[in-house]
Amino acid sequence: TKGAAMVTAVASRVQAQRKQIDKVLALFRLTQEQLVGVRNKMRVEFEYGLKKDTHPLATVKMLPTYVCGMPDGTEKGKFLALDLGGTNFRVLLVKIRSGRRSVRMYNKIFAIPLEIMQGTGEELFDHIVQCIADFLDYMGLKGAQLPLGFTFSFPCRQASIDKGTLIEWTKGFKATDCEGEDVVDMLREAIKRRNEFDLDIVAVVNDTVGTMMTCGYEDSNCEVGLIAGTGSNMCYMEEMRNIELVEGDEGKMCINTEWGGFGDNGCLDDIQTQYDKEVDEGSLNPGKQRYEKMTSGMYLGEIVRQILIDLTKQGLLFRGQISERLRTRGIFETKFLSQIESDRLALLQVRRILQQLGLDSTCEDSIVVKEVCGAVSRRAAQLYGAGLAAIVEKRREDQGLEHMRITVGVDGTLYKLHPHFSRILRETVKELAPQCDVMFMLSEDGSGKGAALITAVAKRLQQAQRE
Ligand code: GLC
Repeated sequence: TKGAAMVTAVASRVQAQRKQIDKVLALFRLTQEQLVGVRNKMRVEFEYGLKKDTHPLATVKMLPTYVCGMPDGTEKGKFLALDLGGTNFRVLLVKIRSGRRSVRMYNKIFAIPLEIMQGTGEELFDHIVQCIADFLDYMGLKGAQLPLGFTFSFPCRQASIDKGTLIEWTKGFKATDCEGEDVVDMLREAIKRRNEFDLDIVAVVNDTVGTMMTCGYEDSNCEVGLIAGTGSNMCYMEEMRNIELVEGDEGKMCINTEWGGFGDNGCLDDIQTQYDKEVDEGSLNPGKQRYEKMTSGMYLGEIVRQILIDLTKQGLLFRGQISERLRTRGIFETKFLSQIESDRLALLQVRRILQQLGLDSTCEDSIVVKEVCGAVSRRAAQLYGAGLAAIVEKRREDQGLEHMRITVGVDGTLYKLHPHFSRILRETVKELAPQCDVMFMLSEDGSGKGAALITAVAKRLQQAQRE
């Protein structure tokens, strides 16, 4: 009987612990009603950003991109493209052949060391130009004067396709003396400083826009670009008459929403958890990009880490011992989350991954870690879905359609690598925008190829204007 009493005591302790864990996980479960709320609030912010009076204070900036049309298949030529702002920095040579709509690409990936990402603007742009020089050397193109498209994946205020003033850094960048400056000018000056070659910078492009363009090259129904990667953002084609910041009422223009800033006015406070707040406070830009911090690859692992720390403090994980590793920022990259959540993985393998991360886990620990990852990534996918539902519904209503078909071009490691993210995102959009048929199209190398396509279109228009 003494043994039986002990068994009961252990069982009730296990039950109590389970309850505590469930309580934490429940914070990440959003009801249908909450998701509808997110969708509706996002819609309100879109309108704020588009209207002249409310734009200056809008948290979803709705930036005009001066990209007004899709490629028509007549584009051709050789282009250089730069891609800064994702996981890596890349330089690309893109060859577009007209008629057959085929594109060939050569690219080189360069690391941007942390001290350069967070050093001075001059150092950053000198480094970029150094990489371009290496690439031109490598390709044997030193003397060539190719048109260049610059994919720069940060919020920029544009007054034309080849001008972009950086509003503020997001994600992991924080180089000084760049905010408020034209990044095209900064690049031109760095090229001048090096005094070795000349480049014709034709366009500066957000990665969402590049992604939309790349998919639009193959599917003319593609009018939305989505990035679910290091950062979180969306662009779409808007009627000119709705864009109060730009003169003219004819046709459409692509709007870079910068929806990562959604929630910065406190409108998501009701669903923010203490863990989200901790991640925000430990970031490079506290108080900013709150939606991005609940949804994108750069932060999901951090949310997971905050939860694990808390569960460990409560004695519910890792035998109550907070290791040095667990205290280390950034240990859970998207690729680890994706691996841990893979259904094909046995728990033993989950433990092995945790081991690789320097975390010693029991079998029970690994179950909990997997559940935590699942709760965080599920919420992210649902929040993305709510945002996307808001834009497709807006487009449907604006066009006065009962039913609408639309294609969304997508890129980003979270969407591509995570085992459940894309499915949950699609399901959520279906539920929250039932009158829209949304097709998702994966973009192959969207930002690089897209920048080249946009450059090609801009070049064609430039020439047409001259003639
Ligand atoms: C951040 C940037 C945005 C970019 C996104 C995805 O949200 O501000 O411009 O599109 O990350 O890379």
